[in-house]
Amino acid sequence: MSATIRTQVAIVGAGPAGLTLAGLLARAGIESVVLENRSREYVEQRIRAGLLEQGTVEVLDGAGVGERMHREGIVHHGLHLQFAGERHRIPLSDLAAGRNIVIYGQTEVVKDLIQARLQAGLPLRFEVDDVSVHEIDSERPRVSFTHEGAPFELECDVIAGCDGFHGVCRPAIEKQLQVFSRDYPFAWLGILAAVPPSSEELVYVHHDRGFALLSLRSPERSRLYLQVPADERLEAWPDERIWEELQRRVALDGWTLAEGAVLEKGITGMRSFVVEPMAHGRLFLAGDSAHIVPPTGAKGLNLAVADVTVLADALIDWYASGNAAGLAGYSETCLRRVWRAEHFSYWMTSMLHRLGDDPFDLQIQLSQLRYLVSSEAAARTLAENYVGLPVNHSALAPR
Ligand code: FAD
Ligand code: PHB
Repeated sequence: MSATIRTQVAIVGAGPAGLTLAGLLARAGIESVVLENRSREYVEQRIRAGLLEQGTVEVLDGAGVGERMHREGIVHHGLHLQFAGERHRIPLSDLAAGRNIVIYGQTEVVKDLIQARLQAGLPLRFEVDDVSVHEIDSERPRVSFTHEGAPFELECDVIAGCDGFHGVCRPAIEKQLQVFSRDYPFAWLGILAAVPPSSEELVYVHHDRGFALLSLRSPERSRLYLQVPADERLEAWPDERIWEELQRRVALDGWTLAEGAVLEKGITGMRSFVVEPMAHGRLFLAGDSAHIVPPTGAKGLNLAVADVTVLADALIDWYASGNAAGLAGYSETCLRRVWRAEHFSYWMTSMLHRLGDDPFDLQIQLSQLRYLVSSEAAARTLAENYVGLPVNHSALAPR
């Protein structure tokens, strides 16, 4: 016999989407239970994104977890594009109405959200198994799962599928969805290194040998990426080879890349993926469960937070006044931003990576890059998309 638990919103997945949603709902007095199939340690150590749009920062403030982010996050007002042996600065804030970005690791965002939730004594279960969703076409959907060997039924009004690309929520409504996708023939090899960043701002590098990116996590930690073939094995890349390749791709007269101990390394595939609609019945997909972008535009985490802001708004309205318009429009509202980010990520990816041996592709890329660094209109297009569209903030209004 399963034990039955009852809540208002069942949230599957404790990544940025699920945890932020739980935080926004809690602030509005709406109950939720978060179910996560990994351990707390695993979720808190998983190195992924590191760049927050200003809108994301504002949402995290609204969820009550901004304190450490403002203390430790690093505000950036520009980025660099490097190609044909030259580095050019794009002044993001000047071009995008003063908006900026903040460097603060996804690991830290997740730690802050988990700590806030547990400190408030709100339900968040790690290491649950056998999660499945049921009766989503009814007004009483359920999530069944096992925890510490015991079976549970979680009854709710609404299920939020925040369980990432490999979760169980999207497959549960697969037949209702149209899928759009694009795979790329390359991947990113990423390292976290114990060395202060050699460039204060991010540098996106176009090079004959392939793309490279200089990023950071803190004044003491660099985060660096190299384009590698899609099927590359990590064993082929001992630390010395990584540094050697980085040095070749990012080299610039009068500037040197400092090296340090490699603390972590991994290879991430590149994919564009969207399902439409992002909801069916009482199941609402948010974040990577509904869409994936290649990381070149730094949009994945920001899109996840934007989705759940729209969902939190819609749920707050629905519980307060019975108005279901926000829930009915959830998918359409999110998809407008999603497709903008899909295009931007695809465009940045296509412009900056080595696509193959076709000299036509190379000339098109170089022409685009030269235009970006010589036309204010072109640079503004990059800046507006990079810093992100404003998020709709009504879920954050003081009440
Ligand atoms: P996730 O962070 O994937 O969270 C989903 C959660 O659901 C996970 O904790 C997972 O364990 C849990 N879950 C899965 N299945 C179940 C289940 N059956 N039951 C319960 N829980 C479940 N973006 C960038 O902008 N820059 C980057 O450099 C970057 N690097 C990345 C590297 C990798 C390897 C990956 C996979 C993504 C990367 N991204 C990057 C994308 C970004 O990290 C994601 O867009 C972001 O994590 C999305 O958040 P989410 O909450 O939607 O999904
Ligand atoms: C990162 O710091 O991990 C990062 C930054 C910018 C990107 C992708 C990843 O476009």
